[in-house]
Amino acid sequence: MTTEAPRRRVRWTLRRRLVVSIVALLAVLGAAIGTVSVVTLESVLVSRFDQQLAAAVALSRDNVGPYGYGGSLPSADELLARQPLGTIAVIDSEGYGMRGFIVAPKGASVGTADQMELALHAARDGQPVSTDLGGELGEYRLLAATTENGDSLVVGLPMRDVNATAAALTTAIVLVILAGLILAAIAATVIVRLALRPLQRVAETVSHVAELPLDRGEVALSVRVPEGDTDPGTEVGQVGAAVNRMLGHIGSALEARQASENKVRRFVADASHELRTPLASIRGYSELTRRGGHELPDDVVYSIGRIESESLRMTELVEDLLLLARLDEGREIRRAEVDLTALLIDAVSDAQAAGPDHVWQLDLPEEPLTVTGDGPRLQQVVVNLLTNARVHTPEGTTVRVGLRADADEVVVSVADDGPGIPEGILPSLFERFVRGDASRSRKAGSSGLGLAIAAAIVQAHHGRIDVDFEPGATEFRMALPAG
Ligand SMILES: Nc1ncnc2c1ncn2[C@@H]1O[C@H](COP(=O)(O)OP(=O)(O)O)[C@@H](O)[C@H]1O
Ligand SMILES: [Mg+2]
Repeated sequence: MTTEAPRRRVRWTLRRRLVVSIVALLAVLGAAIGTVSVVTLESVLVSRFDQQLAAAVALSRDNVGPYGYGGSLPSADELLARQPLGTIAVIDSEGYGMRGFIVAPKGASVGTADQMELALHAARDGQPVSTDLGGELGEYRLLAATTENGDSLVVGLPMRDVNATAAALTTAIVLVILAGLILAAIAATVIVRLALRPLQRVAETVSHVAELPLDRGEVALSVRVPEGDTDPGTEVGQVGAAVNRMLGHIGSALEARQASENKVRRFVADASHELRTPLASIRGYSELTRRGGHELPDDVVYSIGRIESESLRMTELVEDLLLLARLDEGREIRRAEVDLTALLIDAVSDAQAAGPDHVWQLDLPEEPLTVTGDGPRLQQVVVNLLTNARVHTPEGTTVRVGLRADADEVVVSVADDGPGIPEGILPSLFERFVRGDASRSRKAGSSGLGLAIAAAIVQAHHGRIDVDFEPGATEFRMALPAG
């Protein structure tokens, strides 16, 4: 047993539907007009022909007049005098039997007795009929009359010419209709295409907007449907005008969003800035008190030490927030040549000093590698990664720091064989205030801003930062454009 997948209906474009409908309508109309014309023409031709036939019968009847005094039927010459070529005449007399004649050029076939008999039986009085006599004679129009002697006289005219005329006319009409349909199809295609072109332009505008990154940052939504396609007098123009109104709304919504984002950013920047001075005072006074040489109770010494260390931590947090706010504002970073090799050597030896219980390895290329950028900020990225590899892993963990040049970028990697990143935070690892297991990390001064800052700095350098993580192998990679 087989089951057939439901066939998906292929939808026709509006253009094709319009053109096909127009052409189909014209075809039906053409066929109707053509049929009526051909039928009318044929009936006109035949009725004219019937008049000729009636005249021919009358002529033959007059030609023979009364006969039989010589003891015979009228001769062919008498019957067919002054008749056109191809005319046949058949006379049937009770006394003398049947005789048939035809006006034929010398040497041509003159028809058989059977054909003459066929004609005699087919013909009616006063009512012309068409009969195919067969052979070379073909179709004939026949009419019967009675001679002055009371015998049957049948006269026939060949239909060949009438038929040929009708066929020629039919062919001409069909050809004209076909040519008309082809022209109509071409004209309809062109007209419909021209009429729908503005719609296409509207669609282009809309898809252009759809590709814009509207979700963040400063977006100047200046794209609009061209003026000419927004005439409300036309259907397409109404669509264009509506799209423009919508784009206007979206534009102001984006501006409002940006303004409120800027306000929040300003607030964070201002608040961080304002917090710096009092924090410095707290730090300064607590240090002064601690070193003042006064005899202080132990618990006071402890409290003052806590005040000092916590204010130090808060200072770092405030500095981080300020840095993020500045990076968000998109302030230009400094651009100078930064020797990544030297930077990594310094950073790793600092990390080694801070974490002597970890194993630190450094893989450097033969040639020193440099990038263009902001040295202290790049240093901060590396320090953040190394600090993470130290504080979020147990003692004895091996940390491998690498540097290499790829096609058109320079890649710094920091890999460790620690327990890895907690599953839950992986998707939002580079976002602000995202951090793993609280109890251990918080002891290590964790704020969840380190990777967010690293990502913002790398982005400002038009680079990428990502993480590869399997249990037992965590690798952060920072890629910066070379040169
Ligand atoms: N090398 C690493 N090994 C394990 N976990 C890590 C590593 N690096 C970062 N993490 C996890 O990612 C979280 C976010 O890191 P980060 O943004 O630097 O914040 P913080 O270090 O202040 O907690 C950390 O809290 C930690 O759980
Ligand atoms: Mg960190």
